[in-house]
Amino acid sequence: MFETLTPQTPDKIIRLMQMFCDDARMGKIDLGVGVWKNAAGQTPVMAAVKDAERRLVETQDSKSYIGLAGDPAFLNAMCGLLLGPDADAGRIAAVGTPGGTGAVRQVLELVRLARPGCTVWISAPTWPNHPALIDTVGLQRRDYRYYDPATGAVDRKGMLADLGALQPGDVVLLHGCCHNPAGADLARTEWEALASVLAERGAVPFVDMAYQGFGAGLDQDAAGLRILAARLPEVLVAASCSKNFGLYRDRVGMAMALCADATARDTVQGTLAWLNRQNFAFPPDHGARVVQTILDDAALCDSWKTELEAMRLAMEANRRALADALRDATRSDRFGFLAAHQGMFSLLGLTPGQVARLRDDHGIYLVDDSRLNIAGLTEATIPVVAEAVAKVL
Ligand code: LMR
Repeated sequence: MFETLTPQTPDKIIRLMQMFCDDARMGKIDLGVGVWKNAAGQTPVMAAVKDAERRLVETQDSKSYIGLAGDPAFLNAMCGLLLGPDADAGRIAAVGTPGGTGAVRQVLELVRLARPGCTVWISAPTWPNHPALIDTVGLQRRDYRYYDPATGAVDRKGMLADLGALQPGDVVLLHGCCHNPAGADLARTEWEALASVLAERGAVPFVDMAYQGFGAGLDQDAAGLRILAARLPEVLVAASCSKNFGLYRDRVGMAMALCADATARDTVQGTLAWLNRQNFAFPPDHGARVVQTILDDAALCDSWKTELEAMRLAMEANRRALADALRDATRSDRFGFLAAHQGMFSLLGLTPGQVARLRDDHGIYLVDDSRLNIAGLTEATIPVVAEAVAKVL
């Protein structure tokens, strides 16, 4: 039967991870996949995670199955983190998923069941797995303008003009914060304007929240989502704990739908649980329970927030240092936007040929659209990267 298969196009980020591993050169620099690294270039287990894991080892007395939606205490704690203390629990349907990707997939499957003919609008540019997942699920998609490389900022006018073509029931996929790959986020007024367009057109926002706490702070990063939740009857959310809890390989995520009323909520909750059953049955529990243990314990939560804030500030410092080093190396301000962006990523605005030269000639790995992982930089590598960028320009 396998002779019928044709090779799949590999995801460019995953392919780059492999190329980096296969490169035998000393001094190679990985600015590809979105993984946070400390000043020594390592990705440590967060202290609160270690403590919560120790506690779980001591207290957990069974690993028997839980419900299809996962641990309700995890879901409650995550809803609080995302929506704040005033969230209307009566409107929320939520299930645990294997990571943020699992959450995006389950939400898209929910959309396909509810509105098979709708269009899912994605930002140009976006994370490459967004269009891939939409295509795999079999929904239609369209791009909306989002980022203007000429200004290094959000193309507010272009975005709102494109979204003027939304049809009722269309879905608009948004990056909750720390846009991947652009690094340019919507301001509060832009979220408000977006909420108005969505309300006028009868479209549904789908917020992918993969970096909460990496942008301006935990609550600040959820401000856009909370504006939408307050203004619109239906909101879809995919949340990931890979980055802000450093639980990458443990696969911790949550798919959530805010519904118009309690009756719709019950149907959506049942449908999401059914979708979990069809795809993997029970969501992974260990990492989710670690997150819940942290969020529900004041001391662990303080420790986690302190470490997360230090990670965020380190990324901000890397941004400023790289912008300065590039200004000196290129004698221009063309990379000044880096300091104004948020989160792990920005696009340097290089051509694929220049990105290839960085890799081949200098051992510096960026995604081919010139996305670089700011958190992959260290004090030692920043001047090396700046000099190399100046050389390939
Ligand atoms: C990234 O964009 O690098 C991360 O979100 C990892 C991934 O799964 O692509």
